[in-house]
Order: sequence, then structure tokens, then C-alpha cells
Amino acid sequence: MERDKSDSENAERREWNRRYAVKDFVWTVEANRFLVAETADLRPGRALDLAAGEARNAVWLAERGWAVRAIDFSDVAIEKARRLAAARNVADKVAFEVADLRSYEPEAGRFELVLMMYLHLPWADLVPVLARAARAVAPGGTFLLVAHDSANLKRGHGGPQRPDVLYTADLVVEALGRELAIEKAGTVERPVETDDGIRVAIDCLVRARRP
Ligand SMILES: C[S@@+](CC[C@H](N)C(=O)[O-])C[C@H]1O[C@@H](n2cnc3c(N)ncnc32)[C@H](O)[C@@H]1O
Repeated sequence: MERDKSDSENAERREWNRRYAVKDFVWTVEANRFLVAETADLRPGRALDLAAGEARNAVWLAERGWAVRAIDFSDVAIEKARRLAAARNVADKVAFEVADLRSYEPEAGRFELVLMMYLHLPWADLVPVLARAARAVAPGGTFLLVAHDSANLKRGHGGPQRPDVLYTADLVVEALGRELAIEKAGTVERPVETDDGIRVAIDCLVRARRP
């Protein structure tokens, strides 16, 4: 049983590495628009980017004075992320780490910003990841999550097509526990340019603060 679980976890990692093993960036190198909006009023400090991928968001934060730690289990993504950070002259501002978030334990109370963007795991796997992410937020610090909302499957564009890895802001709020004060929780729309014109993706967004 344990063996089956770790086989499937390794398969997921291999699949992400395969997706990232293309010459160009898989995603845009522009920072996520909700990150830009939601961090506009924050004073830079230490940031933790969980499931950072090619690090478009980590690099953007570093350019704005944040000291970032960026984690992803895809070594191929992290290698590309290092190159992006170097090309944008912030290599010394981002510490990259290859780690699986299902076992990664960040230091409690350490980060003024904990970021989780588009991490989609089966819900039972994500709950402990969310709890550890919440614990990592420093007093006065912010937790920000954006992901494809469950509603995106039927009504939105793109994103995972498996209902078991999609979720909602309400579920995230429940999993975060009571230590953080919820500032925003709900769905947001993200218009996306496609070959067939503009399509709208439905994301969930949760912003919370440790008092
Ligand atoms: C859709 S990408 C989002 C990347 C980035 N947050 C962004 O918004 O550009 C999801 C990322 O989650 C990472 N990931 C998935 N499962 C993971 C796990 N168990 N531990 C660490 N990273 C994981 C993948 O390697 C991938 O880079």
C-alpha cells in the first residue's frame, strides 16, 4: 500500500518533469495578476513560494525586494527557475529547493508572505500542506492562495480536468484552521487570450493574515 502510494507520487513528479522538459517556459514568465494586486500593499520581507514551478512569481517578488524561498518537486522546473532568476538579476534573492510539499515542513512563523499558486493535489493530500503553510506565516504576515476553482471544470477555461484535484475557497478556509484571519475568500475571474478569442478561467482566491 505504502509502496503503491510512493510509486504514484514519483509518477506525478516524473509527469511534471516531462511537462517542464521543453525548451521554452511552460507558463508565462509574467507574475500572476492576483499576486500583483494582493501584494501591492505589503512591505517586503521573507516570502515562501510553495509549488513555485518556473518561478515567475518568486522572481517578481524578488525584484520588489522580497527575500524568497521557492519550493517545487520538479528539479527540471527549478533548474529553469534558476535561469529565470539569473536572467532577471535576482539569483541572490531567491533560494530554490527541490522538495515534495507532501512532506516538506517550513519553519513555523517564519515568512511574511506564504504563497501557493495553482497547486492541485487530491484534497486529502492538500489539507496537511495547507496546515503547514498556514503555520509558516509570521505574525502580521499574509497567506495567499490562488488555484483553479472547482467551478472551472464546468464553467471555466483550462486547468485540470479532474474533479478530485480541484477545490474551493471555502474548503481552503476550513483547512487553514483558526489561527489566520481571513481577509478574502471566493472566486475570481481570469480572462485568458486563446486562439478562439478571450475565455474566462474561474479561480479561487484566499488571502489571510496572522494577527
Ligand atoms: C500549475 S504549476 C504552478 C506553478 C507556479 N505556482 C505558477 O503559478 O506559475 C503547479 C506546480 O506544482 C508543482 N507540484 C505539484 N505537486 C507537487 C508536490 N507534491 N510537491 C511540490 N511541488 C508540486 C509542479 O511541479 C508544478 O510546478
